[in-house]
Amino acid sequence: MDQPIRLKNNGQISIVLNSQKRKTYTKELPESQAPPKAIPAEHTALKEIEEELGALVGMEEMKKMIKEIYAWIYVNKKREEAGLKAGKQALHMMFKGNPGTGKTTVARLIGKLFQKMNVLSKGHLIEAERADLVGEYIGHTAQKTRDLVKKAIGGILFIDEAYSLGRGGEKDFGKEAIDTLVKHMEDRQHEFILILAGYSREMNHFLTLNPGLHSRFPLVIDFPDYSIEQLMEIGQRMLKEREYTLSHESEKKLREHLHFVKTNLSPNSFSNGRYIRNILEKSIRAQAMRLLMQNSYDKHDLMTLRSNDLVFEEAD
Ligand SMILES: Nc1ncnc2c1ncn2[C@@H]1O[C@H](COP(=O)(O)OP(=O)(O)OP(=O)(O)O)[C@@H](O)[C@H]1O
Ligand SMILES: [Mg+2]
Repeated sequence: MDQPIRLKNNGQISIVLNSQKRKTYTKELPESQAPPKAIPAEHTALKEIEEELGALVGMEEMKKMIKEIYAWIYVNKKREEAGLKAGKQALHMMFKGNPGTGKTTVARLIGKLFQKMNVLSKGHLIEAERADLVGEYIGHTAQKTRDLVKKAIGGILFIDEAYSLGRGGEKDFGKEAIDTLVKHMEDRQHEFILILAGYSREMNHFLTLNPGLHSRFPLVIDFPDYSIEQLMEIGQRMLKEREYTLSHESEKKLREHLHFVKTNLSPNSFSNGRYIRNILEKSIRAQAMRLLMQNSYDKHDLMTLRSNDLVFEEAD
């Protein structure tokens, strides 16, 4: 497959992030027709978007998808100017992946980027979960869900662990929330973007609960677990931003530890990027205590996390 966005038989688009596969084009375009590599100067928004996306490790397919959406919107404008039909497409999405694989981070970024691209008027993110949608009596749920959609107009409504809405069966108000959402995502499909997120297995099951649900999410994005090298890179970027570095020894220790947890923990209890962030934040506190006790504050010491500062506990 050489397309990041793949149309399945049912018209749904599926995107796999972090794909290790290299792109190979089956048919090479002749030199004269190959698109230029550099983005034309007038697309400053696209350049800014590239920069923001560049801060994220991996996720190549999803970066490509966002740029393709930009191109699609731009070309649609040009088509309109040329008197051609301009396509309208709902951009509701489903994010599937284990904890800490970047779902919330990407949702927030998409809000910002789509605002730059004039897809969304505000670009804000409303994060919600089951309790924000489901009420306690008949009619309450529809009201709560409607209110939430109203707040999200112009931006993104991100519902984490969305599969929990399907819990509880027919009598549960979760079903009412789903029905209300489905209605709004049709009626106001160009006014807000709904992103449902959750673990892959649960989300696949969730989609079977309402036959209309599947086709209403044209963009399904998988967030795979990070490799050890990607986790190290995420860690390095977090540290760089905070103006810290790992000593040679501590880098080795962290890599070995990641190897250990990734081979011993079950994939859906390992929290990927969040795991790294927690370890590093804890180490920063341990380093502070060490420096305080040593009473030494030279610049190099202030910046360096030593291997003794890295403490791994069961709960990590
Ligand atoms: N590709 C990435 N590049 C840089 N940092 C990342 C990346 N993916 C995740 N992170 C970092 O990892 C942490 C967890 O990410 P995030 O909260 O987005 O995960 P999540 O998938 O929403 O998790 P959960 O399912 O548990 O809600 C954040 O601090 C985020 O900045
Ligand atoms: Mg999250």
